[in-house]
Amino acid sequence: MIRICPSILNANFDDLPGEIAKIAQVADYLHLDLMDNLFVPNFTFSAEDAAKIIDESSLPVDVHLMIDNVDQTVRPYLSSAAASITIHYEASTDPATTLKAIRAAKKRAGLALKPGTDFDAVVGLMELVDMVLVMTVEPGFGGQSFMSEMMPKVAKARKYLDQNGFSGSWLQVDGGISIDTIGIAAKAGADTFVAGSAIYRSEDPAAMVDRLRSIAISSR
Ligand code: DX5
Ligand code: ZN
Repeated sequence: MIRICPSILNANFDDLPGEIAKIAQVADYLHLDLMDNLFVPNFTFSAEDAAKIIDESSLPVDVHLMIDNVDQTVRPYLSSAAASITIHYEASTDPATTLKAIRAAKKRAGLALKPGTDFDAVVGLMELVDMVLVMTVEPGFGGQSFMSEMMPKVAKARKYLDQNGFSGSWLQVDGGISIDTIGIAAKAGADTFVAGSAIYRSEDPAAMVDRLRSIAISSR
């Protein structure tokens, strides 16, 4: 099963309903990047504005929290209509409790790793996680180059999940995913793909979602 999650980070924020409508028929999730100008040097939306986007989205929303102090700052998202909430391991002092709270709020619990964080740091949390996110850029901005050196981490995570009873867990990659890189990530074991600029800078975003999906399927 392959999932394509368009990121609206580089879409036109003045017409988000229109931007979401472009991919709503073909994408699996809408990926919403929340940045606080602390955990990353960029800001996107307040929790209130995010809640409105989540409520109005016709697609289920995959929330990616790039915000500090996430054990506390996750709270407004727990009561939102998000389908999935991903926290960064590096932004948490008690990831187990926060992941449990996300599941208790009936959302999929995601755990993200910055490029400098090894998968070994989080293996003990896998029973609390529905999705591992291996960042393939430094979080903060869209339009950066895919870090192919993250592929051993993706492969290690896939192998661990499959061999330890977590084969139902999703493995997401985020950053620099395009028609040139999605096959590499799929081959390494990713099944859930965020793509921002590849989709929204394309002339036909829906056709790009289809194209990315077919490359991922044929590369696995
Ligand atoms: C980066 C964000 C990404 C970003 C991806 O920190 O987490 O979701 O939108 O954008 P592209 O696909 O352009 O690298
Ligand atoms: Zn993201």
